[in-house]
Amino acid sequence: MTTGLDGVLPLLACPICAGGLTRRDGVVGCAAGHRYDVARQGYLTLLGPGSRLDTGDTADMVAARQEFLDAGHFAPLTAAIVAAAGPGPVLDLGAGTGHHLRAVVERSGDVGLALDTSRLAARRAAKVHARVGSVVADAWSRLPVRDGAVGTVLNVFAPRDPGELARVLRPGGRAVIVTPTPEHQQELRARIGLLDVDPDKADRLVRAMGPALTPIDRTPVRHVLTLARADVDRLIRMGPSAYHLPADRRQAAVRALGETTEVTLSATVSVFAARR
Ligand SMILES: C[S@@+](CC[C@H](N)C(=O)[O-])C[C@H]1O[C@@H](n2cnc3c(N)ncnc32)[C@H](O)[C@@H]1O
Ligand SMILES: [Zn+2]
Repeated sequence: MTTGLDGVLPLLACPICAGGLTRRDGVVGCAAGHRYDVARQGYLTLLGPGSRLDTGDTADMVAARQEFLDAGHFAPLTAAIVAAAGPGPVLDLGAGTGHHLRAVVERSGDVGLALDTSRLAARRAAKVHARVGSVVADAWSRLPVRDGAVGTVLNVFAPRDPGELARVLRPGGRAVIVTPTPEHQQELRARIGLLDVDPDKADRLVRAMGPALTPIDRTPVRHVLTLARADVDRLIRMGPSAYHLPADRRQAAVRALGETTEVTLSATVSVFAARR
């Protein structure tokens, strides 16, 4: 079986001319002569006109996410994502370290394409599973993926362009989108001043998907985690508040916590179907 990047190359499109990509002598390119770099660490960078890389997670955020997820704290969420996923190939948009994608491809036997704007995340995702290929690209530009190439798109706490999801899904394919609820990490919100979640987030998602994708299912995932201080610290560092909360304030707030802290994991797993 073709593995890693080679396994997902048939799904990819040149970000400049949208042509198919092949690899020859270690170089990936299209028939029109556009060439792309495969990093030593195994991921491919596909940037087109207007692609930006400045919204991706930093090295510290990625390291904290990897440690936190590897400890299994979000296992109920991963299980709900696996249950909601349809047939492959599977694209994970804003895949981070590829943690949830690994679980989906392990279960389905399909190939997985991890796409993220953070090189540090892409480096981790490139090693997460033999059937996962990792690409650095920007979810806010045209995705470097061929029309109708994938059966399932995962999008977990990450940005998305609904029109692009609809374009890359094959007819009848499904998008599995995970958004936080206002209850998510509420204990830390109150004590540490994390950013609030829009209470209307899941409904707004359905409206944003508009005519391109039809809502077919919505599952709440709620679990109260008991976390040691070091895990609370990782959870804060891996989330969007990491951009706003100075490290010394975070460390002081975490030191003031007890040995363990109860933190609610609360998210909505929304499933949408692409038109047949
Ligand atoms: C909160 S993390 C979630 C990561 C992963 N889905 C998970 O649940 O473990 C958000 C991810 O989106 C990525 N991201 C942010 N802006 C992006 C963009 N414009 N295009 C692609 N990925 C982006 C970040 O680098 C980060 O890995
Ligand atoms: Zn090209």
